[in-house]
Amino acid sequence: MVLIFLGPPGAGKGTQAARLAQDLNLKKISTGDILRAHVAQGTELGRKVKPIMDRGDLVPDELILAIIKEELEQMPEVRAIFDGFPRTTAQAEALDRLLETLGAPIHKALLLEVPTEELVARLLKRAELEGRSDDNEETVRRRLEVYAEKTQPLVDYYAARGVLVRANGVGTVDEVYRRIREAL
Ligand code: AP5
Repeated sequence: MVLIFLGPPGAGKGTQAARLAQDLNLKKISTGDILRAHVAQGTELGRKVKPIMDRGDLVPDELILAIIKEELEQMPEVRAIFDGFPRTTAQAEALDRLLETLGAPIHKALLLEVPTEELVARLLKRAELEGRSDDNEETVRRRLEVYAEKTQPLVDYYAARGVLVRANGVGTVDEVYRRIREAL
């Protein structure tokens, strides 16, 4: 089974994907988490991507796709939730090709919908609590612009393939989770 979690920064993709992955025994593959681990460990990849992430821009597709290939190769059976991937049409097309060779179709792409001002409020609150380096106002605004320009087109991409479902991401984490289970 392959699920994709789509939605703007702060929509709750990571929070909800972690819970669903546990309940359905799927592996959560978060490109953001993998990149942040590289930054924390000071790897060559981490040094390359840190300034890009701090600006709120997207890491080049070829670096992201290398990460995804490695993740998929490590799985005996493809049972995954992608969180924060794909983010560009090129990434989505590459994922389709990879999954086709593995005989693992995309089951659903879930779009979590949250109004912009709530997204900004959530991320600025997380900046206070956790200090994630891309959770400052300027970078958050840039991440939202990049989402609208590069990632939002994937909503139509997956709708055209008949796999898109939507869930309202406003409410408690439990309420949102219940809606996601219903939508899926
Ligand atoms: P990434 O880590 O993917 O960040 P993002 O998409 O901006 O997502 P967030 O983690 O901020 O939000 P989320 O929707 O997962 O929400 P969360 O559950 O965390 O990417 C970071 C960077 O890495 C990118 O800018 C880019 O540079 C690079 N990158 C990553 N993937 C890439 C790719 N595929 N291609 C190119 N570049 C890539 O929740 C957010 C906050 O809200 C938390 O504090 C949480 O506790 C809170 N919250 C969650 N649910 C609720 C709720 N229901 N009510 C109130 N608060 C809530």
